[in-house]
Amino acid sequence: MTPAWWSDAVVYEIYVRSFADSDGDGVGDLPGIRSRLGYLRELGVDAIWLTPFYPSPGADHGYDVADYTDVDALFGTLEDFDALVGDAHELGLRVVIDVVPNHTSSEHEWFRNALSDPSHPDRGRYMFRPGRDGGPPNGWTSAFGGSAWELDERSGEYYLHMFAPDQPDLDWHNETVQRDFEQVLRFWLDRGVDGFRIDVAQALFKDQSLAEMQEPDPPTWHADWVTAVNQPELHPLYRRWRRLADDYPGERMFVGEIMLDDQEAVAEYVRPDELQLAFNFALLWDEWDATAIRVTIDRTRTAMGAVGAVPTWVLENHDVMRVATRYGGREQGRRHARAAALLFLALPGTAFLYQGQELGLEEVDLPDELRQDPLFVRTGGERKGRDGCRIPIPWTRAGQHFGFTTGEPWLPMPDDWGLESVEAQSEDSASTLELYRSALARRPGGDFEWLESPPGTLVFRRDDVVCLVNVDAPNLDLPEGDVIVASESVTDRLSAGAAAWVRPRTL
Ligand code: GLC
Repeated sequence: MTPAWWSDAVVYEIYVRSFADSDGDGVGDLPGIRSRLGYLRELGVDAIWLTPFYPSPGADHGYDVADYTDVDALFGTLEDFDALVGDAHELGLRVVIDVVPNHTSSEHEWFRNALSDPSHPDRGRYMFRPGRDGGPPNGWTSAFGGSAWELDERSGEYYLHMFAPDQPDLDWHNETVQRDFEQVLRFWLDRGVDGFRIDVAQALFKDQSLAEMQEPDPPTWHADWVTAVNQPELHPLYRRWRRLADDYPGERMFVGEIMLDDQEAVAEYVRPDELQLAFNFALLWDEWDATAIRVTIDRTRTAMGAVGAVPTWVLENHDVMRVATRYGGREQGRRHARAAALLFLALPGTAFLYQGQELGLEEVDLPDELRQDPLFVRTGGERKGRDGCRIPIPWTRAGQHFGFTTGEPWLPMPDDWGLESVEAQSEDSASTLELYRSALARRPGGDFEWLESPPGTLVFRRDDVVCLVNVDAPNLDLPEGDVIVASESVTDRLSAGAAAWVRPRTL
């Protein structure tokens, strides 16, 4: 049996607002993406994942959905969506879309009904609860700062929002909610999508007892909500979703954004009859450190292997700092990011690549007054937020806004952004874009095996290809053979911060 398409795919995340603008309003859109499909095909990815493009007031830039079965006029129309899917399929690119089931926008008709009349049946779709001791029902906190409860002054009850107050959480114990989302999935499956990325997939059901959260001590970056979410009811739900998608022809795929630290806990969501994939965020938090990275790789492979699931690898997404910056920025950070690219594209499983990662873009440090992320706004600036990794893509070396838009981009692009553009990098064989292009065309496959190597290095084999990463050792000798691709020009050894794929003469 040929393996499913998603089991060794490279999926390219398109942050729709920032990819390509076709109509000059400064915000990327679906026709813009359609006009750049040729670029993606030539880059060599297998699929695209589109962040939310549904009607939305934009309180969390689309992750606050007001209508699950339409396209926001800002991004185009349903016809544009169909045309995009049609073109993508013709080019051999699969299309994965974001589904946001944990919460709606406060502008969704259901929530408006729920607020306007406490006896309206739609009220039961949300988590309205009475307060306690003159305050909110419990001490749960929002990921965007402050209490996770907002007072509905009219009724005196509180409603739950694990993110912004404009993102009220749905009550997944409500069967109408469950039924409606099956219709949402069908709506898009009928339109030909190849899969869904499920937003905060571990959080849909909440602990009904509203017990205070017990978080690990010391806390991890995503310790929030550990005991309030990750409820057993999710597994039967995802089994139903899986059966629903499996009834469609083709191989429709789910990838869950399961924000749990422990890979064994994540693995429970990708047992054979549940989701096919779950993001593995571990590499996002590892330092540029050979031991830490090796532990992550081994833990992931062991946890996923135990349930027969495919591992996934992520170096960047629209919620985190760009990898070149995270590794220290400038020359050194960029070198490390290039070496990491060869590492993550050589690992067995599915790789998720965030737009602009292939250009080696760095995080942009915006002045506070231009920041838009609710995370920045709601924490009073304590957390800088995610705008810096969402700057629009530079397509051309020169020209207005480097080919992204003919209007004013929704976030400003740095003056020298043209040097990083697709055009500039396509003309430079030593660019990060060219590195990604050649690596994507030559990704190794087959069994994975660690090879012995000095401390500070990572060396493994996939069939007849050896991937060598010199993280921070003085030098790493390359085996004799053909260098298939290297993160910088190499002779017979890799210096610290460089990586290469080699087909050795003898193994
Ligand atoms: C996910 C998204 C993030 C969004 C949040 C709330 O983590 O990736 O961008 O803010 O969910 O929907």
